[in-house]
Amino acid sequence: MRKQIAAANWKMNLSFQEAETLIDKMVPECNNLGENQQVIFAVPSPYLTMAQAKVADQANVFVAAQNIYSKKSGAYTGEVSVAMLQSIGVDHAIIGHSERRDYFNESNQFLAEKVKICLDENIVPVFCCGEALPVRESNEQNSFVKQQLEESLFSLSADENQKVVIAYEPIWAIGTGKTATSDQAQEMHAHIRQQLASKYGEAVAANISILYGGSVKAANAKEIFGKPDVDGGLVGGSSLIADEFIQIIKALK
Ligand code: PGA
Repeated sequence: MRKQIAAANWKMNLSFQEAETLIDKMVPECNNLGENQQVIFAVPSPYLTMAQAKVADQANVFVAAQNIYSKKSGAYTGEVSVAMLQSIGVDHAIIGHSERRDYFNESNQFLAEKVKICLDENIVPVFCCGEALPVRESNEQNSFVKQQLEESLFSLSADENQKVVIAYEPIWAIGTGKTATSDQAQEMHAHIRQQLASKYGEAVAANISILYGGSVKAANAKEIFGKPDVDGGLVGGSSLIADEFIQIIKALK
C-alpha cells in the first residue's frame, strides 16, 4: 500500500536556532503516525545533521535535502552529493522543485540524472512536477506534466520508479495563497497515475505516492488529502508554523 506523506519544505528560511525550535515542536507530534504514514522535513543543507539527529529514533519520520547534484563527487564547488547525505543518515531529497527549474534552469533531462543518482545510492527522490499559469490557462497542463514525467522518470525501471515519491505542484499555486481545488488536484493526480500505469502497469502505479503542493494549509489539507489519488502534501509556507503543520500531519489519510 502506498504511503501517505506530509513533507515540509522550509526552503531558504529560518536561522539554525529557529529551525531547531521548530523541529523540536513538531517531531513529538509524529509519535502517533500510522504504519502507512510518513513525515519528511526538507531543511536547508547546513541544518541536515541537526535535523537528522532529531528524527533518528522516530519511526516513519525522515529528513530530506532540498536539492542534490547529479555527480558522485569531485570539483563542483558549492554542491552537495548523495554520498554526503548518506554519510549523515539522510535518505530523501527533493528533486526538481519549480524554484530550481525556474531560477537555476534545471531541465527535465538534468533532473533525470539527479533522480537516477538518488536511486543508485538509495536516496528517495521526491520528484516535483507541475505547470505554470499560462499552461493551465491554455488547458495544456496534462500534456505538459506528461512530458515532465516522460523525460525525467520514464527511463527508470518499474522497480526504480516505485521508490520515487512524486509531488504535483502547480506553479500558480505555490506561495500564492491560491490553492488548486481538491477536484483540480484529483484530476491531475489521476492523470499522473494513469501515465504511470500505461508505462509500468496498474500495480506499480498504485504503489507510487503522489503528493500535492501549493498553498496547502491546515484549513484545506483534509479536503485535498481526502481525494483518492492524493497521498499527502509537500508544504512550504505552512510548514514554517508548528501548529499549522501539525494539523496538516493529522489530516493524512
Ligand atoms: P507553499 O509551497 O506551500 O508555500 O505554496 C509549496 C512548495 O513550494 O513546495
